[in-house]
Amino acid sequence: MAHARLTVTPSDVIAEVSPRLFGSFVEHMGRAVYTGIYEPGHPTANEQGFRRDVLELVQELGATVIRYPGGNFVSGFRWEDSVGPVSERPTRLEVAWHSIETNEVGLHEFADWAETAGVEVMNAVNLGTRGIEDAASLLEYSNHPSGTALAEQRRGNGRDEPFGITLWCLGNEMDGPWQIGHKTADEYGRLAAETGRVMKWIDPSIELVAAGSSNADMPTFGEWEKTVLEHGIDVFDHISLHAYYEENGDVESFLASGVGLDRYIRTVADIIRDTLAEHGSDRTIGISVDEWNVWNQTRFNEIDKPPLFAGEWNERPRIIEDEYTVTDAVVVGSLLMSLLRNSDVVSMANLAQLVNVIAPIRSEPGGPAWRQTTFHPFALTARFAIGDVVSTRVYSDLQQTNSYGDVALLDAVALADGDTTTLLLVNRSIIEPLEVAVDIEGSPIASVLYQRTLGVPEGGTRTTSNTQAQPDAVLPRDADIVTVDDGDARLTLPPLSWSIVRLSTPRPLPSTTIRENDNA
Ligand code: AHR
Repeated sequence: MAHARLTVTPSDVIAEVSPRLFGSFVEHMGRAVYTGIYEPGHPTANEQGFRRDVLELVQELGATVIRYPGGNFVSGFRWEDSVGPVSERPTRLEVAWHSIETNEVGLHEFADWAETAGVEVMNAVNLGTRGIEDAASLLEYSNHPSGTALAEQRRGNGRDEPFGITLWCLGNEMDGPWQIGHKTADEYGRLAAETGRVMKWIDPSIELVAAGSSNADMPTFGEWEKTVLEHGIDVFDHISLHAYYEENGDVESFLASGVGLDRYIRTVADIIRDTLAEHGSDRTIGISVDEWNVWNQTRFNEIDKPPLFAGEWNERPRIIEDEYTVTDAVVVGSLLMSLLRNSDVVSMANLAQLVNVIAPIRSEPGGPAWRQTTFHPFALTARFAIGDVVSTRVYSDLQQTNSYGDVALLDAVALADGDTTTLLLVNRSIIEPLEVAVDIEGSPIASVLYQRTLGVPEGGTRTTSNTQAQPDAVLPRDADIVTVDDGDARLTLPPLSWSIVRLSTPRPLPSTTIRENDNA
């Protein structure tokens, strides 16, 4: 048995939890849209062709904001193709993912789907092949009430009221040579800033996200952020950060991915702070982690991608439909914990993606939809991470990792909401249970309100996954992992596990001194 101690300081608030941390992403890529959220003819399809079974899972997941329509896709996208009568929309070669795009689902249909799902749309403009005029036109079409050609075109297409889209991404991963219209930091920074300025003249209520680095290993990482920010320090509200993790032969490093994400976020936060200070700006620019997940990119780049890009052009090819394991779910849980821990600087985040494409939800054409392992830590965190993220201190046995040196076996985040303290916990050891002594400063622990643990299921292994045949092989269990004794709690976290524990922690009333004659 390994050991750790966790001290929570509820009075030291890091940030109030923002619902925007629980965003996700739908790209016109693979089967995310077609046979993912949309499949006319499916037994559960609604009158617009959207799958009700998938919609229900999206609602259960608790996703709040959905980034759309890409991704790499957006850098070759002509938005006008995707509005107007469906029968008149052009079919195009989709170069980013070597596919055929029919444009059957476009802005109007997606906005309707989002309304039904109860999520906000975060729209991206194409700064790969296009620029200021197209971004401005798309914004005017979307958000201007009436009386101009573009607003009337929208109304003529059946949408009387503006879409009222607040969040706009200025292009996608423009630092990457794989991106259509890839640019240098100066080229992109200037274009993004000029585009953003015009967009805000059209609708001052919008928030703009500049494209940051595609990952922390990009040769331009750091310099890219500084240069881009210098071009648009007065106009950008957020800068993006994309982060994907995979297991590369060293499971200990993979399980410490949250440490990597913590460091990546803090580096970008320092660059934002220093650049704002150098320019004497008192603005706030947040970090939009608008693509994050576990993704086996090595397999995609080395095995799946070469034949895909050399082969025929097909509609909705099966691309990066990663099947997630118990280990992946624990890592996804800990990445969410990193986002919460850094929510003083992370303004929003989007799990990439939502359905079929590296997604928590899978669906089969004509068949069922089911929850991947990674669905569960996301859904429980989105449901219970309310109140304030508060500071914690972790004293823990360590384990060695190739990527991050010695790392604590315990990963933990605490949230305070009135008299309830919620703990999110990961045991990074794949062999030993971890005993954790918990102390909540100033609040005796009265009782356990809720506890769920996701780990290796009975008879399974750390690579067990949820499949069409066995959709519930990996589930969070109501395991008895907490003992409360005299105001303190002791937890026993199974090896390789993610847990959520809600504790009743009534705050003692402030003590008052009663003087003798007060009652006279
Ligand atoms: O999410 C899949 C792809 O990953 C996105 O299209 C791109 O932005 C990133 O490289």
